Amino acid sequence: MAYETVFSYPNYTAEEHETWRLLFKKQMELLPNRACQEYMDGLSKLSFGTNEIPKLADISERLKKATGWQLVRVEGLVPEKEFFELLAHKLFPSTDFIRKREDLTYTPAPDMFHDLFGHTSLLTNEEFGDFFQAIGQAGARAEGELLKEIQRLYWFTVEFGLIKNKGQKRIYGSGILSSPREVVYCLSDKVIKHEFNVEKITHQDYDIWHMQEELFVIDSFEQLKTEFINFGKRTQLLV
Ligand SMILES: [Fe+2]
Repeated sequence: MAYETVFSYPNYTAEEHETWRLLFKKQMELLPNRACQEYMDGLSKLSFGTNEIPKLADISERLKKATGWQLVRVEGLVPEKEFFELLAHKLFPSTDFIRKREDLTYTPAPDMFHDLFGHTSLLTNEEFGDFFQAIGQAGARAEGELLKEIQRLYWFTVEFGLIKNKGQKRIYGSGILSSPREVVYCLSDKVIKHEFNVEKITHQDYDIWHMQEELFVIDSFEQLKTEFINFGKRTQLLV
């Protein structure tokens, strides 16, 4: 695997910087009392800045200081085995391009707003970071049906997870946090919320094209980490 870890800063256009600015502003209006505290704490540790597209180099440096995670630059979606290998090594693959203006509220393929704003804040959290590395280790070893189970677990936690903060349901999934529509929708009564249950999630199909109708709520990142590691040991994906 050859990935860039020394990043050059692309020559973004004024419109691209403005796209970041608009997305950032919108999400910052929506996230208080919706995003979990751990995510908000991570945002302040990474201090993205509101006006310009952040530099991968800066974010990677701050992550490294916080928990040892680093970024690698990728062109787009990474083949899943490589993706899990990277996570196993505490490397998170991020793009450095931003969505087109016409895709402001919804982008079918992840861009850097999803990768940075959605994913990196929680990598400043030790418990979540440990879980994220463990899902990488397990995913890198899994094949067949077990690999599908890991993908479902990834979907309903990393991308679309909810957590309880002082009894209130809050968001930690990056697929929700980087989407203005999903942030509001996911906490509404239209969405069924289940208690976190590894067994149930590993058999739960999901739809990548529509807003999620069913979500799972963890009590804490410690619970997520512990229950995932237990699953990994049971299935012999983790030692
Ligand atoms: Fe993602």
